Amino acid sequence: MSSSVLAPELDGLAGQLVEALGSSITVAELYGPLGGPVYHELTADDTNEVRDVLALLRGTQGPVLELACGSGRLTLPLLVAGHEVTGIDTSQSLLSKLRDRLSAPSALRLARRLTLVEADMCALDLDGRFAAALLGTTTVGLVPPADRPDFFRRVHDHLAPGGLFVLSAHTPAATAGPGDPVQEELRPLVTPGAVNFVIDRAEPEHARRHVSILRIPAQGQPLLLTSTVHVPTAATLIDELTRAGFEVDAARTARPTSAAPADLSILVARRSKR
Ligand SMILES: C[S@@+](CC[C@H](N)C(=O)[O-])C[C@H]1O[C@@H](n2cnc3c(N)ncnc32)[C@H](O)[C@@H]1O
Repeated sequence: MSSSVLAPELDGLAGQLVEALGSSITVAELYGPLGGPVYHELTADDTNEVRDVLALLRGTQGPVLELACGSGRLTLPLLVAGHEVTGIDTSQSLLSKLRDRLSAPSALRLARRLTLVEADMCALDLDGRFAAALLGTTTVGLVPPADRPDFFRRVHDHLAPGGLFVLSAHTPAATAGPGDPVQEELRPLVTPGAVNFVIDRAEPEHARRHVSILRIPAQGQPLLLTSTVHVPTAATLIDELTRAGFEVDAARTARPTSAAPADLSILVARRSKR
């Protein structure tokens, strides 16, 4: 396999790797068919946000719409807590991982309360109205900024009156801004049979990060899995949510876990009761 011709423009270390290794590295999307299983392996045991989300949705009367549910890191605790969940995601590989996780006879009780939809949440168009919607794991950063206002309106319109929209986001400090320098971090993660490096490149000038995972398996070709994460400020998100019709509570800082970034916030927005 050679490096993908569809590879995005990669700057910094990720770009240098691709240039140096040429056809001996495979470049693919982090949540695609090659990246999905790696993403699942690296994150499935991460408990970040779980307690906050369960606490915020406790007492919700009615179905929960989980946007970008992936392989179910947050979905499974929601089901265990008794919620009826509709999960939507574009990644076939992550959705099938979630189905696998619920395929054991002992999980049937949970699986019965879950509906999965493979679709783009930015074009959200589902039947029914939900008591709450959740977009966790800072996934709002994967929505292109130009699509966010329409996306928020769609989420709003899928909620019943008074319905709650809970979303987590990286919200850089108010002092961070376009004048800040590009910063690149490299974090190693060793898993059975592979060494992985998370390459996190922050580009304040463009309010985005490029997050890549370099995976070096014990056998086979190295893999570079890429994603672009937009980093709007909390004020921008609150303004866009308000324009979409939501009443927004103050952003709260999520309970930090060892893996949680320091600038993680959870925003709570509500569709009006009328
Ligand atoms: C950071 S992962 C979070 C997954 C899951 N919530 C978790 O905690 O493991 C981001 C997820 O967003 C999904 N995704 C990205 N863009 C999407 C879109 N436009 N519509 C639906 N899902 C999307 C990806 O496939 C991936 O599963």
